[in-house]
Amino acid sequence: MKRELNPSETNSIDLYKILVSAVMPRPIAWVSTTSKDGVDNLAPFSFFNAVSVKPPILAFAPALKEHNGKPTEKDTLRNIRETGEFVVNVVSRDLVEKMNQTSFDYAPDESEFDAVGLTREPSRLVKPKRVAESPINFECRLYQIIDFGREVQSGSLILGEIVMTHLDERVFKNGKIDMAELNPVGRLGGLWYCGIGDRFELKRPAKKRENAE
Ligand SMILES: Cc1cc2nc3c(=O)[nH]c(=O)nc-3n(C[C@H](O)[C@H](O)[C@H](O)COP(=O)(O)O)c2cc1C
Repeated sequence: MKRELNPSETNSIDLYKILVSAVMPRPIAWVSTTSKDGVDNLAPFSFFNAVSVKPPILAFAPALKEHNGKPTEKDTLRNIRETGEFVVNVVSRDLVEKMNQTSFDYAPDESEFDAVGLTREPSRLVKPKRVAESPINFECRLYQIIDFGREVQSGSLILGEIVMTHLDERVFKNGKIDMAELNPVGRLGGLWYCGIGDRFELKRPAKKRENAE
């Protein structure tokens, strides 16, 4: 027996809980932006993925939050609308605590880099700084924003074109990313996360080209 659930008859908190516990594990984009006043912002987003190679596009989705009783854009979305630039930093296992701390709702004039003690590293082609401690950084220029609504919990899909990639040689060896060395984390439902402890290889059906996705 499967229980039917119509999203239009389900409150958004229950729907959120179902979505984040069913669509998982999710990768985490640790997104740095700079406000038009020059404040360096940093926040994690697990509604995230790579969605195109040509052009190379990353996508993630901040939701509107409630502030003073009104739906309000998170700093990351506002900064990207205003500046058109961001950096996606990859979160390895050793960074997960600091990543979590940057999800606190700091005031727009307070930098998460300083609040949690992370090192700013200049980017090559965009203004937002990179997280020096993160092993992989993607400098992105805004490609498109798709707003799904104007209520609290409405998402805005931010698509960014990668214009520069930085790969730490500890994790990038012989043209490949060493999974064990990267030690990535995924987001599950509730307050749960996962590492890459239980992993396995699965051969694709025969006759596939070797480098096909
Ligand atoms: C692991 C993790 C994943 C998160 N994913 C999302 C997400 O996909 N969308 C979202 O709106 N908020 C997400 N959050 C909450 C934001 O990080 C949080 O609201 C943050 O304060 C936003 O920062 P900003 O206002 O500086 O943009 C996530 C938090 C954590 C810890």
